[in-house]
Amino acid sequence: MDFKELVEAARTCRRFEEDKPLSVADLEWLVGCARLAPSGMNAQVLRYILVGKGETLDKLFPLSRWGGALKDWGGPHPGERPTAFIALLLPEKATELMCFDAGIAAQTVQLAATSKGWGCCIIKTFDHAGAAALLKIPAGMQIPLLLGLGAAKEKRVIAPMPADGSFKYWRDADGVHHVPKRDLKELVVARY
Ligand SMILES: Cc1cc2nc3c(=O)[nH]c(=O)nc-3n(C[C@H](O)[C@H](O)[C@H](O)COP(=O)(O)O)c2cc1C
Repeated sequence: MDFKELVEAARTCRRFEEDKPLSVADLEWLVGCARLAPSGMNAQVLRYILVGKGETLDKLFPLSRWGGALKDWGGPHPGERPTAFIALLLPEKATELMCFDAGIAAQTVQLAATSKGWGCCIIKTFDHAGAAALLKIPAGMQIPLLLGLGAAKEKRVIAPMPADGSFKYWRDADGVHHVPKRDLKELVVARY
């Protein structure tokens, strides 16, 4: 798989093979990739909490919200739930520069997971206070993002942008997840 193919394959994944859980060593490998990512001023302020299968995972999952645009689906069903989470930690008073680090780290994990046949969902919509309490995060820190992870179960494809301009992702009758992406023509606004 060349790099463009990896990026194409690295679609958000929201359904997983729950009987093939990721291990804590797998999560450490993912963070081992993220730790090499670019960082504003190279300050490397991000910290990580790894959550593998067990009681903490069972309590964290219900605090997270999945696929808000899929109106008739409330999130992964039993048997297809994430088998791990990585919580990204930043200082409570994170600067804008630090927030960019979180995005870069999240995408690095998503790409790294895809390279192993795993899926990843970057999650901003979750009970932030509940997750912070459950994971006993250090004082003065916050969780900007959760990364839901597991062996990928669902088929996800890139779709052309529809004529009406709707950027909502959707699922077809066969359960394939379609993600509209804007054309390069629309994105590049100037060339010099
Ligand atoms: C910053 C950020 C926050 C996100 N938060 C959520 C979330 O709370 N729940 C969810 O199901 N997906 C979430 N996503 C995943 C997006 O919905 C997904 O990236 C988008 O639909 C495009 O799909 P793609 O990742 O396959 O390109 C988030 C993605 C990003 C980058």
